[in-house]
Amino acid sequence: MSKPQAANQAHVETAAVHGEGRVEHQYGDVAMPLHFTVNFEYETLESTRGPFGYSRHRHPTREQAEAAIAAVEGSAHALLLASGVAAIDVVLRGLKAGDHIVADDDLFGGTYALLERLYRPVGVEIAYVNLSAGPDALSAALRPNTKFVLLETPTNPFMRIVDIAAVAAAAHRVGAAVVVDNTFATPVLQRPLEWGADLVVYSTTKYFSGHSDMMGGAIMMNDKAAYERLKYVQYAAGAVPSAFDCWLLARSIKTLAVRVERQCGNAAAIAALLARHPAVETLYFPGLESHPGHATAKRQMRDFGAMMSFVPRGGIEVARLIYDRVRLFTRASSLGAVESLIVAPIAGPHIGRAGTDNAPPAHLLRLSVGIEHVDDLLADLRNALGGAA
Ligand SMILES: Cc1ncc(COP(=O)(O)O)c(C=O)c1O
Repeated sequence: MSKPQAANQAHVETAAVHGEGRVEHQYGDVAMPLHFTVNFEYETLESTRGPFGYSRHRHPTREQAEAAIAAVEGSAHALLLASGVAAIDVVLRGLKAGDHIVADDDLFGGTYALLERLYRPVGVEIAYVNLSAGPDALSAALRPNTKFVLLETPTNPFMRIVDIAAVAAAAHRVGAAVVVDNTFATPVLQRPLEWGADLVVYSTTKYFSGHSDMMGGAIMMNDKAAYERLKYVQYAAGAVPSAFDCWLLARSIKTLAVRVERQCGNAAAIAALLARHPAVETLYFPGLESHPGHATAKRQMRDFGAMMSFVPRGGIEVARLIYDRVRLFTRASSLGAVESLIVAPIAGPHIGRAGTDNAPPAHLLRLSVGIEHVDDLLADLRNALGGAA
């Protein structure tokens, strides 16, 4: 299958800058204004002066940011939420006891915790499957009561690649909806709706924001009925972002494409260093030709992303040494921002998976590559790894 074209914008770079559209502003603002009001005046006993009444339902800055994110996704609809896990939770809210979902077995730890701590106890059945292994494993796990297939690609933190079109074909045979957490790829690199996914979710806290200064989530979809249902769930459950976070998001989306392009270039150079470094035992990065998902990633993605994980040779003490020696990479959780980050997933973002079969080992280190000059990043890692070798 050839790579699909964006539905409503020829180039993602242009959509990123212009997607929020121009609204009628009193002063002809070029930049998007920020509306700092929660409620809106009523004109009569029954109705408000404009389309807005109360912000948990609708807010002008949120709606403009939703237009911006829908433009880069090429989706008909978008919902912005208070965080990435709130987005996943709103998608799953309709599940009831006896419903079944299939989830990939390499998922962000917070998603795993949400499933295990909030959904399994109320009777939702969950099967974990390595979806990167091909459609047979998925077909064996699907049941008539399977409502969702939930996956990330690349996965977090092992960077496995799932063939979205193949998963969608199998899931749709039993009427299950495919939900792709596209946080690592962003729509700049991959548009799951165009490969057959039903819903796309994001932690906009990551690449969309890109500056480690706001939290948010998004649900993207083409289906109007799904949009209306999920918008009601969001309204009823209250998982809305603040107007300021929406404004920050819309502002940041304008530079998303250039940031991601630079991050991918830097990541490729870093992967080339790590792949041949004697201090690295295993490198997980889909850009490597030896990566089992490389061919699928090449077909499904525009580039290989800027996330990678590696196991240093020599175990936890060596991992500790590398961690202590980096100077430019910030030792912190989260990902996707302008600054490069390093973290041991099991000590932070994946703590929810501790003790499980597929838990990341304590000495797995994950890099989120930023936009600094590549030579400085390479020198920092060479120094840290050299000290370890
Ligand atoms: C792939 C992925 N999805 C979802 C989330 C959750 O995002 P948030 O922290 O915005 O709730 C994260 C957070 O690290 C993530 O890495």
